Amino acid sequence: MERIITLIPGDGIGKGIIDATTKIIEATGAKITWDVQEAGLLANEKYGNPLPEETLKSIEKNKIALKGPLTTPVGVGFRSINVALRQHFKLFANVRPIKSFDGIDSLHNGVDLVIVRENTEDLYKGIEYMVTKDVAESIKIITKEASLKICNFAFDLARQEKRNKVTLVHKANIMKFSDGLFLKSGAEVSSNYKDIEFEDVIVDAMAMKMVMNPKDYSVIVAPNLYGDILSDLGAGLIGGLGIAPSGNIGENCAIFEPVHGSAPDIAGKNIANPTSAILSGVMLLKYIKEFEAASKIEKALEEVLKDKEKCTIDIGGKLSTTEFTNAVIGKIKDL
Ligand code: NAI
Repeated sequence: MERIITLIPGDGIGKGIIDATTKIIEATGAKITWDVQEAGLLANEKYGNPLPEETLKSIEKNKIALKGPLTTPVGVGFRSINVALRQHFKLFANVRPIKSFDGIDSLHNGVDLVIVRENTEDLYKGIEYMVTKDVAESIKIITKEASLKICNFAFDLARQEKRNKVTLVHKANIMKFSDGLFLKSGAEVSSNYKDIEFEDVIVDAMAMKMVMNPKDYSVIVAPNLYGDILSDLGAGLIGGLGIAPSGNIGENCAIFEPVHGSAPDIAGKNIANPTSAILSGVMLLKYIKEFEAASKIEKALEEVLKDKEKCTIDIGGKLSTTEFTNAVIGKIKDL
């Protein structure tokens, strides 16, 4: 069945890596019509709105989107469109697989874990204000409802992917009410999943443990801020932001996107690594049950990434974005 999917190329390197992804998906034969929409800095310059109504309507209709990175001005200007989209569509789970590829230089080989980050609350609610001109206050919101939901999602994902352990990350020794509630909710959910081991680790210790022994972890569930930080740490373990995908999943809507930003330092040079966007496309294909197309891309990527000469510059290779994309398409055609 042909699917219509909203496509937001985004800012900076976005267009290049999203073009690469759609060409690669097309090469698998998956039947997808892309409904191209705008958001971010470019949309703001063009329409005076970083998140145009048309874009929201398109996602509302299609219920699924592939998105490139969007620039968020620092300190001044509009708030993060990524956070706005996650809140608008109630995309409560941010899923970030952290999987090593042979051939990519990294701190560890054989890492295969998934970080499930609560995506709608915590300090990312954006409730902050100046108490006096010299004192700023940000409010951290943790609710039982959202905590139970994300922990259930993490245990369900563990079951589906035949993973044997869920590790909950918190700082409940200091934030006894907010993180305490998150921890209690995780423990409550775990009692319904006796087949899956459950443990909890304090976030600072978790950062150290992930660096030292990432293979000890399979599914990590965390409130928004810790999940955000540990996800990038995880990307660093396997070779960097250029190869880390993500999915923002809600009850009946999902947006897939690379975890990195718009990389203004390399925009327009045709050297960005599209792997993170391509793997986000793979997550999307699995979500719409196009398993054969997803598997073709995974196999082709694994093959291409084995050969350092065929990688992009950020991971020690020589190829441009376009050349790398053509190498992956070539492998798909050989499969
Ligand atoms: P960034 O992720 O854009 O870049 C960090 C470093 O990684 C840069 O040196 C960049 O060249 C490199 N890099 C990132 N992606 C790469 C790729 N695919 N291939 C090769 N190298 C890559 O983070 P930064 O500079 O902090 O943010 C730039 C903008 O992106 C900001 O406006 C930020 O708000 C936005 N951003 C957007 C995100 C999203 O839309 N999901 C996520 C993170 C940041």
